Amino acid sequence: MCGIVSYIGSREARSILLEGLKQLEYRGYDSAGLAIRQGNHIELYRAVGKIVELEKKIAGKEVKGTIGIAHTRWATHGEPTEENAHPHRDQNDDVFLIHNGIIENYLSLKKWMEKDGIVFRSQTDTEVLAQLIAINFEGDLSEAVRKAMSQVEGTFGLAVIHKNVPDEIVIARRGSPLIIGVSDHGYFAASDVSAMVRHTNKVVHLKDNELATLTAGGFSISTAQAIPIERDAETVEWRAEDAELNGFPHFMLKEIFEQPETIQNAMRGRLEPGEGVPKLGGIMPVWENIKECRHLVIVACGTSYYAGCVGRYVFEKLTEIDMEVELASEFRYRKLNFPPNTFILALSQSGETADTLAAIREAKRKGASLLGIVNVVGSSISRETEAGVYNHAGPEIGVASTKIFTSQLTILTLLALLLGRHQKLSLTEGVEAIRALQLLPDQVRAVLSQDNHIRAIAEKYHKRSNWLFLGRKFNYPIAMEGALKLKEVSYIHAEGYAAGEMKHGPIALINPDMPTVAIAPMDDMYDKMISNINEIKSRKGPIIAIATQGDEKVKELSDEIIEIPPTLDYLYPILAVIPCQLLAYHCANLLKRDIDKPRNLAKSVTVE
Ligand code: F6R
Repeated sequence: MCGIVSYIGSREARSILLEGLKQLEYRGYDSAGLAIRQGNHIELYRAVGKIVELEKKIAGKEVKGTIGIAHTRWATHGEPTEENAHPHRDQNDDVFLIHNGIIENYLSLKKWMEKDGIVFRSQTDTEVLAQLIAINFEGDLSEAVRKAMSQVEGTFGLAVIHKNVPDEIVIARRGSPLIIGVSDHGYFAASDVSAMVRHTNKVVHLKDNELATLTAGGFSISTAQAIPIERDAETVEWRAEDAELNGFPHFMLKEIFEQPETIQNAMRGRLEPGEGVPKLGGIMPVWENIKECRHLVIVACGTSYYAGCVGRYVFEKLTEIDMEVELASEFRYRKLNFPPNTFILALSQSGETADTLAAIREAKRKGASLLGIVNVVGSSISRETEAGVYNHAGPEIGVASTKIFTSQLTILTLLALLLGRHQKLSLTEGVEAIRALQLLPDQVRAVLSQDNHIRAIAEKYHKRSNWLFLGRKFNYPIAMEGALKLKEVSYIHAEGYAAGEMKHGPIALINPDMPTVAIAPMDDMYDKMISNINEIKSRKGPIIAIATQGDEKVKELSDEIIEIPPTLDYLYPILAVIPCQLLAYHCANLLKRDIDKPRNLAKSVTVE
């Protein structure tokens, strides 16, 4: 969703901010803007559409300041227009502010201000915040922000500059991530590391209800109650080249092809082959409780939720734990009973998904212990959970999640295996599992080597407007994830179904125009999937099968076959999802979609 980048230092802010905004594009946005201090005044530029529109506005202008704030906006309150784009100003053009989040009481504040004759120029909640800071300003910008923080309800990550405070940027956070970057030429504030990763990998995470003042020579953090905070910078492992395409036409394809490495990274240093048991240092703080855990609830959204659905089957196979998986956005409407020693496990790439955060907070109130599997180090979910495991998969830039899904599946398997070895699995079963896990990176490479073949299948079917994805047990969630990938990047309508549900309705859809992707590896559901494939074939539905290498039976029944190497039944999802990702990618590419930034979508969904 919206992105923030600000800079104060010795270099010209203009190119640093524009480059930072481009790194934030993947989050999804519909307008962009920046404000740069130029001597005694502040220059404001905003544009609807892509960053290049903003660049056109600035082209040829003398904008040479070294202090500035910039923003990509994903409209929530008010249409994507130039007036609604950030930075926003107070009515006297003193305060310039960028903001992520939602000010919930903005209407009552606005009414009160309008009564006092204050003039508004946008329909946004953010403008209210700019006016409020201007009203509170008595010479000290951080004090004005602190006071405004006590008057607003809702969420914010903000950065603000003031015409009469020539050498400061003040930033503040409640609910929307904000990170300070420490470089050798100045200081950054950004909503995620990618905006500044070309300049520094040293970051300081601001926590909720904290604010910070940045100058060209340093920064100071304090609480909303003005208590000073000392916090050292951490080094993040992301590299500048992680945010580059490196010869791939899209980040989605690059990230699909990174999966042998990201699966390896999810296991690196975590396997004890001889003992048949993984080591997960991040779980150790809660080991005494979790080893006896008998009730685990996974909460997540979207693709992370489907990873959780696979995880449920894997945990049920490998452990004694009673499993539930909940959509984080529905969690608070459920009446869940948490028996003693219940753990809630949040899955999240960004670690900032608003619904997932709300779900873990609700679970905590009800007495559950919290775990996380998160990619973004230092993100809100990683900080609010008691223990957890990082994906170490590098930034995922493509809006459609791919490499994080297989990384989540790998880590869920490690966690299930760790607990399972304590609860019921023999050494032989543990050793067998670890051997199979170690083969995965090369097996994923083997699936990726069929990219040309998969593209040829996409060429044949990409104009079909309805697709069905079918799977059972471990691969039922892969059917849902395959359908989600196809719809979100290609805009083709697709349904993911448990194959056993076919006869209860969806079979009515089968006809020669609708392709079915049947996920039918040689696992314990094989015979049942063969029956489903036969049912589709007898109704003349085209079948694209994902099957185990050398499976002549499925080959004979299907119109197209994509082969995956043999593995343990609970590891097949990690291999079976790769052809689904590639099919979605190639269909979208053939249909000339904006693959890395599909319409209406945002990478990190930080509002409910
Ligand atoms: C789909 C996709 C989304 C995310 C969902 C959760 O490709 O990327 O469905 O999986 O928004 O995001 P995280 O994992 O960041 O909590």
